[in-house]
Amino acid sequence: MCGIVGYWGSKDPKQVIVDGLKRLEYRGYDSAGIAVLDQVQGQPKFRVVRAQGKLMELSRKLEQEKFSGQIGIGHTRWATHGVPSERNAHPHSIGGVTLVHNGIIENYQEIRQELAAQGSQFLSDTDSELVAHLLSHEVKQTGDLHAAVLKVWPRLIGAYAIVAVWEQQPDVMVAFKNGPPLVLGVGDGEIVVASDVQAIISTTKRVVYLNDNEVVKVKGANYEITDHQGRKLKKDIVTIDWSADLVEKAGFNHFMLKEIHEQPRAVANAMAPHVDLENQSVRLTGLGFSAQSFDEISKLDSKVDQALSFEKLKNIDRIFIIACGTSHYAGLAGKYLIEQIARIPVEVDIASEFRYREPFIPPRSLVLVISQSGETADTLAALRLAKQAGALTLSICNVRASSIDREAHGHLYMNSGPEIGVASTKAFVSTLAVLNLFALQLGKLRSQLDRDRERRFLDALLGTPAQMEAVLAYDSFFAEAAATLKAYRGILFMGRGINYPIALEGALKLKELAYMHAEGYAAGEMKHGPLALIDERMLIVMVCPSDKNYEKTLSNLEEAKARGGKIISIGTGDNSQLKNVSDHYLSLPKAEWTVNPILEAIPVQLLAYHVANALGHDVDQPRNLAKSVTVE
Ligand code: F6R
Repeated sequence: MCGIVGYWGSKDPKQVIVDGLKRLEYRGYDSAGIAVLDQVQGQPKFRVVRAQGKLMELSRKLEQEKFSGQIGIGHTRWATHGVPSERNAHPHSIGGVTLVHNGIIENYQEIRQELAAQGSQFLSDTDSELVAHLLSHEVKQTGDLHAAVLKVWPRLIGAYAIVAVWEQQPDVMVAFKNGPPLVLGVGDGEIVVASDVQAIISTTKRVVYLNDNEVVKVKGANYEITDHQGRKLKKDIVTIDWSADLVEKAGFNHFMLKEIHEQPRAVANAMAPHVDLENQSVRLTGLGFSAQSFDEISKLDSKVDQALSFEKLKNIDRIFIIACGTSHYAGLAGKYLIEQIARIPVEVDIASEFRYREPFIPPRSLVLVISQSGETADTLAALRLAKQAGALTLSICNVRASSIDREAHGHLYMNSGPEIGVASTKAFVSTLAVLNLFALQLGKLRSQLDRDRERRFLDALLGTPAQMEAVLAYDSFFAEAAATLKAYRGILFMGRGINYPIALEGALKLKELAYMHAEGYAAGEMKHGPLALIDERMLIVMVCPSDKNYEKTLSNLEEAKARGGKIISIGTGDNSQLKNVSDHYLSLPKAEWTVNPILEAIPVQLLAYHVANALGHDVDQPRNLAKSVTVE
């Protein structure tokens, strides 16, 4: 979590850094700060300005500030050590060394005690400040910031991406990482370093992705990359294809709403590389086995040497799907798809549980990890554990060249474009589309899927973007209904089969955005407890499409109605039974069971969005959360 930016160039560093931080605010938003080179009493100094709260507070403070230098660093924080406050905000400056840090220094107690014993005074409660102390001691010996970083490196245990400057080398900036992401942007006579390409694309599209244990020394417009022992490295520059407009709101009030409306395109983009339209068949590309499968980015990683092949996929006996949050719920829907279409047992796990439960991973297992950001710490750790256990691994990520993407053996992409709203939306539906295709490919490889079923399921998937456009019309329904819906004591989301993960997702979205109590339940579990929750102050959202579970779900709905619950049902077409039993009926286009969740996701997202908005919450930046969870 936390977003960092560093800049050297002829533009106003203050402006470039604040613009970059705006694009990274999804990573943390409890305080922010910048340090830019200036002349103070005739001496070069990195002058620090920090503010508690969102970036807007910092921007306000910076309105009157002018800096004379060409170089600076900035940070937007998601607190780990030390409460959100100006004192704990970054950058931290000690003895002329100023730095910003994303991550956690795990041996921070030990370093703090040692520094205290040497008489150091602390200006904050953060672990990050300690690194500034260590560097400022070391730089006195080495006279060079890069050399000081290499000396301090062995002292640091934990996860970190750090950008540091030193007033005695005012044209130098050193960035290094172990864990959280760091990307170098190489512009025309200017350099940007940031946590994410989103903070770079308005300056340049030419980037270098840094790997762990790599350090870049920027000196003016030049840079040199070494490993943590100072050995020079030659790394390719990659040209990225995201455009700067993708990270603007394009007339919507919030990124989340824009991203909800982008979902039909996101699903189409997710499918595009894998569908042979002429033959109406699925052929997954990019798993790591065909000439066209690796793009420039994946060439960067020499560790990707155990390419998955169709042959290997054909011979797997079991699949583990591992992810967190919304990605986990997409994985749960994947279980229904893969087991029913390809007839392979699938286990779905929350990454933080999987990694600590000593999982038994039999030979010939495939571990499929799902992550929009590709940086989620628990998912990354689970992937590493699976590799150690000898499993084949495959990732579904949105952010290319992210840690998870780089480390998995095989790769599939969501292709959703940048997702900036903290609550995941378009990445979720894109993942559902990719999982559909994966299940179909696997079904074919294992001779479980004949041509007719393949065509039928593929047709259904290809039809979803147009159907999704129609479902987006419920935007205005929820905008109007939100004022009533926000008054309920809680909302119970229910569904069966592949629709059950949508109930879980609906409840998660409501909790994280509206801060309202919500539960997601398998409708068949109602009698085992949640029925007791139901009275007239409880709203029930029943996901009840016309599939094989329809009759049973309808009975569950009747039971809820009989206990006084208010009902919104989501079903297929013009369904009078559902209309009769519900207070509001939302009709979805007729579709195969395999793609129903893609359509159903839209109303539950819109519900959470509009209720949160009606309650006056910051929808794009819900309290206590950050988009990229790079710490445990
Ligand atoms: C919820 C949400 C989170 C993420 C989770 C995993 O709206 O966005 O639950 O889904 O933090 O993130 P990724 O997919 O980046 O690993």
